[in-house]
Amino acid sequence: MTRSTPLLGILFLFLISLTSSPGAEPFFQGVKPCESCHTAELEVWEGTVHAKSYKTVHKSEQAAELLAAVGSETSMKRDPLCISCHFSLRQKTAKSKPKAKAGPSCESCHGPSSDWIDLHNDYGDFDSAEAEPAEHKNQRLASAESAGLIGAFNLFGIASNCASCHGLSRPDIEGESLAAMFANGHPLNQQFELVEYSQGSVRHRFYPPNLESNAELDAPGLSRLFLIGKAAQLVAAEQAIAIAPEGDYKKTQLAIAKAARASLMLANSNSAVAAFLSNPDHNSGRALAESIKNVDLSPLVGGSLPDPTNYR
Ligand code: HEC
Ligand code: HEC
Ligand code: HEC
Ligand code: HEC
Repeated sequence: MTRSTPLLGILFLFLISLTSSPGAEPFFQGVKPCESCHTAELEVWEGTVHAKSYKTVHKSEQAAELLAAVGSETSMKRDPLCISCHFSLRQKTAKSKPKAKAGPSCESCHGPSSDWIDLHNDYGDFDSAEAEPAEHKNQRLASAESAGLIGAFNLFGIASNCASCHGLSRPDIEGESLAAMFANGHPLNQQFELVEYSQGSVRHRFYPPNLESNAELDAPGLSRLFLIGKAAQLVAAEQAIAIAPEGDYKKTQLAIAKAARASLMLANSNSAVAAFLSNPDHNSGRALAESIKNVDLSPLVGGSLPDPTNYR
């Protein structure tokens, strides 16, 4: 952001006060607000099934059957149930009408941006990211985080988003609806594993100092990601179990929870993993990710990592 005169600054604050009412729900703004700065990440995303499915998924026969099964009388791109996992909304202001404009995108994993984008964008008195001192950058990213950005520093938060969409277990959707979709053949992949699914087409790791290169994760990083993925899966499955009606959907969630626990048990000698297993929820999951940040758990779980040729 360039420097503005004080008058413009006041006008800006005034406009902000008009568009954001305090306490309102954060909303999605689509990929547009990210494009100018994150071209490398955008290019990766455009190559994923997430981006490409926008043009195809709603046309399938299976989509029509599923809509009928949940009693929906509209198209997939207008049905709130389908939208929450298959599409990302774009909304200009808190009051304008949201529209499904893309497949799952930046905000599906990093959180709706209405409350954090202006903090995240703001290089303060510096003209560019390159000119911005580290201290300012860290402060900027931290204030965006407290306003809802789920950044790369919060892998458990991101993994929870993957686990809820891919585990058919969204806290904002009723258990009856999820079970009905499942009963009518909606996929629920019990084999979803975070390393396999995140280190292929989805991977974007353009970190300083080499911002040009999409870096591969090292072995300790992969092992941590494996465990964080299992932890997020366990929390999502238990949350689904709590609201699921009796039946096959619930049985499948029980099986997912059991398998995730078994994988985590491999690293139960680590006290943070053991603490998480004794009380698995969002807070303990985040605490787990934080405490293993610099720990190499590959001697315990390395043998369970997927073969890189299987990365999606
Ligand atoms: C004005 C430029 C700008 C815009 C617009 C922007 N970002 Fe960023 N973002 C940055 C910079 C600079 C960094 C720090 C990169 C680095 O040096 O690691 C960053 C970092 C991030 C990170 C990693 C944060 C962390 O600490 O791990 C995420 C995630 C992110 N941006 C997501 C987004 C998303 C999603 C959007 C759109 C809703 C967006 N950004 C819009 C400039 C921008
Ligand atoms: C809780 C999240 C979630 C909800 C809600 C959801 N889906 Fe899905 N859907 C997914 C995921 C994740 C996949 C991919 C599964 C995989 O391949 O592992 C998928 C796959 C599909 C597929 C097969 C993939 C394809 O490209 O053909 C169809 C069709 C589909 N969903 C239709 C729907 C319809 C219609 C609705 C609304 C009635 C809906 N889904 C609601 C998460 C969801
Ligand atoms: C499917 C989930 C997902 C989507 C979609 C997604 N991200 Fe990310 N993003 C992640 C994960 C996971 C990481 C952490 C990567 C790591 O450190 O291993 C990350 C890291 C980042 C980072 C820090 C690393 C880097 O490349 O600089 C930025 C910036 C970022 N994402 C921006 C974006 C933008 C912009 C979009 C949309 C164009 C986007 N992300 C879409 C999951 C996602
Ligand atoms: C908002 C919900 C949502 C989130 C969050 C999400 N996904 Fe997805 N993902 C989907 C849907 C829906 C599909 C299937 C699209 C289709 O086939 O039509 C999909 C498909 C994929 C595919 C392609 C599947 C294949 O069989 O090749 C990969 C890989 C993937 N997701 C990885 C991830 C990872 C890793 C994360 C987290 C870092 C993540 N997704 C987060 C909804 C989501």
